[in-house]
Amino acid sequence: MEKIMINGGKRLKGIVRISGAKNAAVAIIPAVILSDGVCRIENVPNIQDVIIMAEILREMGARVTRINRTAIEIDPKGIKEPVAAYELVRHMRASSYLMGALLGKFHHAQVALPGGCDFGVRPIDQHLKSFSILGASHTIEEGMIKINADKLVGKRIYLDVVSVGATVNAMLASVKAEGKTTIENAAKEPHIVDLANFLNSMGADVRGAGTDVIKINGVKTLRGSTYSIIPDQIEAGTFMAAVAGAGGDVTLQNVIPKHLEPITAKLREMGVTIEEYDDSVRVISNQRLKRCNVKTRPHPGFPTDMQPQIAAILAIADGTSMVNESVWDNRFKYVDELRRMGADISVSDKTAVVVGIDCLKGAPVKATDLRAGAAMIIAGLEADGTTTIEDIKHIERGYEDVVNKFASIGADIRKIYDRDPAAKTS
Ligand code: EPU
Repeated sequence: MEKIMINGGKRLKGIVRISGAKNAAVAIIPAVILSDGVCRIENVPNIQDVIIMAEILREMGARVTRINRTAIEIDPKGIKEPVAAYELVRHMRASSYLMGALLGKFHHAQVALPGGCDFGVRPIDQHLKSFSILGASHTIEEGMIKINADKLVGKRIYLDVVSVGATVNAMLASVKAEGKTTIENAAKEPHIVDLANFLNSMGADVRGAGTDVIKINGVKTLRGSTYSIIPDQIEAGTFMAAVAGAGGDVTLQNVIPKHLEPITAKLREMGVTIEEYDDSVRVISNQRLKRCNVKTRPHPGFPTDMQPQIAAILAIADGTSMVNESVWDNRFKYVDELRRMGADISVSDKTAVVVGIDCLKGAPVKATDLRAGAAMIIAGLEADGTTTIEDIKHIERGYEDVVNKFASIGADIRKIYDRDPAAKTS
């Protein structure tokens, strides 16, 4: 079993280059299905979720070629059957985007019900409602969602909850529909804007992405394009939190400081110095962090995908902090793991009360999901002693080369292969 081992207590110093955004990449890659031409996508993160998404497209008949370390070329012309089977799809939540992309292109989609991180109920009612408003009907048979439409006609779609996934799927399904679609109460995350920009680069007419109302005039065809994905806001935020917690002076390159504002604001409240440049930020942390309260919100609020990482640093801040999760039902599974390291955190309903202690102590812990795993890395960097993290497959789903990136800024971190003690010896 592969684990990450960290000897904590080292200050971080140097430069890290942030990769392309996972949550943009996993929307843009399936969006290529809508194109009639070949697309070259750049600044693609080399992470498991992207590898799986590319593999799903390949299995459906697309030609997916890696051009270099960060660019891929996708020719979707070979996709004849709009069917995405269970074996790969079950690994990732974003495979639900295949529904919108296949429906938009073929007016028919058959996609296994998606997997992904487990933090409570993850409904897709708003995705299905959007498809239905555009004229599609669906059935669920043997774990597959089958969606069909004679034709797709643009309409007004009001999302009952602000949902990234439903906004993406509504965009994908309507971009080639007849007439005009208006998505109201749309998600405003940077990756929504990135998807809109990518669709427009193929000839789509999508306006208003990044606001509550997205307007789409359907077009008949979409052409191939070359497009570069935005930097990963959450990877950057994770490194910022790590520097804040472990102490140090690190510059993050290839970021969009505007996208980091909710994270920057909270870290500054905690006493961290953050200097912003055109496409980099410098994070300096020399003193004990101050307590603060955090409430997760859809963008431009504080991102839920940074909630575990921020709790990991509040665990050693001076004073008591409240962390309220308002997006997901159950995103505090990592708290038990932090407690194993001595953290004083109690959870009631959707709020964690974090009583800052002087120092965490290294311990064996688990990555219970992707961002929980990131929080364990941060906790390990802050802690006295050695921390080993298991189930690192969750971390590798979403962080490119995470061990080497942290090692390059002075962390004592490495991957180890540890035989599962529960495994039988023979
Ligand atoms: N929701 C519904 N009905 C729906 C869809 C969502 O009630 O049809 C609810 C969810 O239960 C949740 C809220 O709406 O309470 C927000 O869910 P959303 O649909 O926005 O989440 P998602 O699209 O499944 C994406 C990211 C997540 C991130 C959330 C929120 C991707 C691939 N995933 O998920 O990222 O937490 O938005 O920002 O973009 C991660 O990267 O670690 C991650 C989990």
